[in-house]
Amino acid sequence: MKRTAVYPGSFDPVTRGHEDLIQRSLGFADRLVVAVAVNVVKQPLFTLEERVRLIRDAVPDPRVEVQSFDGLLVQFAQQVGASLIIRGLRAVSDFDYEFQMALMNRNLAPEIETVFLVPAFDLTYLSSSLVREVARFGADVSALVHPTVQQALKRKFGK
Ligand code: PNS
Repeated sequence: MKRTAVYPGSFDPVTRGHEDLIQRSLGFADRLVVAVAVNVVKQPLFTLEERVRLIRDAVPDPRVEVQSFDGLLVQFAQQVGASLIIRGLRAVSDFDYEFQMALMNRNLAPEIETVFLVPAFDLTYLSSSLVREVARFGADVSALVHPTVQQALKRKFGK
């Protein structure tokens, strides 16, 4: 039987850290659905369509699907037949929020297991918000994001 995992997030934009977790997930999942959240609390830099497109361009793997979702994550996971939710844990600061979210998701859908993955050492302190912040001021982010994302950031900030 095929094992499907869902990797949810805002992906505003996708970074090398996300790409790393996608590759690691493919070590134990046959199919990975990257789930781009419609409802991000703050105003995103990239539109939903742009965020989806950037992930598709950065991760051209037939085992990886990119879909947007609105509403509850566990409902989306059930719709796509996923038994796993993937989240990255970078630092202690992530832990509290992630723990609460995993427990709430288990409460809502006990059959779905949350799996926390540790990113590559050199990507541990990478986040979309830091990438946005430094790219805004013209910093070189070529080591942090896929070239297609780098181009998109340049266009966004008119550099
Ligand atoms: O990349 P992010 O912003 O940390 O991703 C957070 C996300 C989108 C995974 C989370 O907010 C989410 O799952 N939202 C969907 C709504 C939902 O199911 N909330 C209950 C989880 S406790």
